[in-house]
Amino acid sequence: LSLNASQSPAKKISQRMFGLAFEEINHSGAGGLWAELVSNRGFEAGGPNTPSNISPWTIIGNEASILVSTDRSSCFDKNKVALQMEVLCDVDGENICPAGGVGVYNPGYWGMNIEKGKRYRVVFYVRSLQPVEMSISFIGSKDQKLATSDIKDDNVAEWKKVEMVLEAYGSDANSRLQLTTSKRSTIWLDQVSALPLDTHNGHGFRQDLFDILAALKPGFIRFPGGSYVEGDRLMNAFRWRETIGAWEERPGRFNDVWQYWTDDGLGYFEYLQLAEDLGASPIWVVNIGISINEQVDTSLIMPFVQDTLDAIEFARGDASSTMGSARAAMGHLEPFDLQYVAAGNQDCWKKNYRGSYMKFYNAIKGVYPDIKIITNCDASAAVLDHPADLYDYHVYTNANSMFSMAHNFDHASRNGPKAFVSEYAVTGGEAGRGNLLKALAEAGFLIGLERNSDVVEMASSAPLFVNVNNQRFNPDAIVFDSSKVYGTPTYWMQHLFKASNGATLLDSTLQSPSSLTASAISWTDADSGRSYIRVKVVNFGGNRLNLRLAIEGLDNKSIESAGSTLTTLTSTNVKDENSFNEPKKVAPVINALKNASNKMTVIIPPYSFISIDLQ
Ligand code: AHR
Repeated sequence: LSLNASQSPAKKISQRMFGLAFEEINHSGAGGLWAELVSNRGFEAGGPNTPSNISPWTIIGNEASILVSTDRSSCFDKNKVALQMEVLCDVDGENICPAGGVGVYNPGYWGMNIEKGKRYRVVFYVRSLQPVEMSISFIGSKDQKLATSDIKDDNVAEWKKVEMVLEAYGSDANSRLQLTTSKRSTIWLDQVSALPLDTHNGHGFRQDLFDILAALKPGFIRFPGGSYVEGDRLMNAFRWRETIGAWEERPGRFNDVWQYWTDDGLGYFEYLQLAEDLGASPIWVVNIGISINEQVDTSLIMPFVQDTLDAIEFARGDASSTMGSARAAMGHLEPFDLQYVAAGNQDCWKKNYRGSYMKFYNAIKGVYPDIKIITNCDASAAVLDHPADLYDYHVYTNANSMFSMAHNFDHASRNGPKAFVSEYAVTGGEAGRGNLLKALAEAGFLIGLERNSDVVEMASSAPLFVNVNNQRFNPDAIVFDSSKVYGTPTYWMQHLFKASNGATLLDSTLQSPSSLTASAISWTDADSGRSYIRVKVVNFGGNRLNLRLAIEGLDNKSIESAGSTLTTLTSTNVKDENSFNEPKKVAPVINALKNASNKMTVIIPPYSFISIDLQ
């Protein structure tokens, strides 16, 4: 491999080249990054009518001691459903309540992770015509109490908000929140929430899941999908306006594509906040009146367009603007840095796409000329028939084809809009649950994107997250349950690309078998001020190879051997995966690079991804 370290002019890779595609899929948000422990907190999972679906709420007691139903008596206009508990037993008399009382419990998303010493804010709304006596507790999987608090209130004839902080004196990753009473009464409950106090910046993001994203130093974050943006049906598509403001007033939605209920705690505001907290550019994917199975006629699209303009004003308007003031009221006075709007997801082939796209394009550009608009139509092979700043490109394929797609953009037009490869993944049985083979093929593809960074602006793998208890799409980059998380090889592979954001692409020529691909970059670390050259090589074959590296324009005296490293991502078997037990079985291993020089030979293991970093 020969490369030129002093080329001119410099080829700058986009500052946002590698980032994240976050979708509400696999319980990525609800039961994942959004740290809310209670699932179906408003009892609305069955929709606005009663009887509603209260799952996973579970009744404690039997028909002789408690009757539980739903009605539409809530104090929240957008969430009228409330839970009614008619308690038939009492502390004394003929029908004595069982030990511990009767009531309901919520197991969260396959168990709540309650940790000793940690504090949890529990909020709920209650109403009763009798004085209320209740215990609110976190209970572990062996029925042990982990935290508890009692309330007594004889003034709850009108709905009343109850708020408490519970400190856990025990740990259990499979706990539940329980609300019980031993007093004969009729009690209504609504909007029950339990959030750990130690979420990221207090913004509601589960800290370990936030950290694993932040470690990738993502240049952007695309949200909230994916197909989730479309919905199977328009009525279930993500509607940003229903996801802002007080959480108690968010109606929630049935995610009909991935088949689960979400309370919309992670709403449009929180996505923008997440992007800001990650230091990543937010890329909002907006539904343009097209779902997977339904389309709004373009002649009727203008209310959707206005709704999108309102959303942009919510993000970018100053606090005195109509929508900007709604954002400010949520605690973010300064505008969010929204610069990208993607119009739809995988909708180019739909009848109404172009007509509706143009309405959105013209309206957004008219008010916000600087916003970059991303079309769903592929411009890599044909010239677009409509204006766009970027085009969305998705690829799901087998490992061989993904690796060979390193050359996909070699012949793409250099004149039209740049590509946003917002979803790529190796899928199919050979990829297992996310193995080394998958990661290597994807690394080869990314090397191709990097080499074509004059026509590729951004790239992200998909899906990003999976709650191991509800895998709707396999494989994924990051796996978690209520208390643990690990990255698949695909996740770790992306670590070797994070220095590429904003780096300079170096010209390099590789003479090798076709199972090898390589790229080279240089960059200066902003914190240390040190400069690096990174050569990345993927060996997608089963042979061990000797790579002879020759770097022009780099004096040996300027290489700091002590600071130079060789990072290797490989394993004994190309089908190896990580797991909760072995979270780093396939992860980058960093070694000192002895004898670093401008002419050297490096051994490349079979089926490996290596990064040679010269300081
Ligand atoms: O990433 C999973 C799904 O694959 C996305 O929702 C969709 O855009 C694609 O088909």
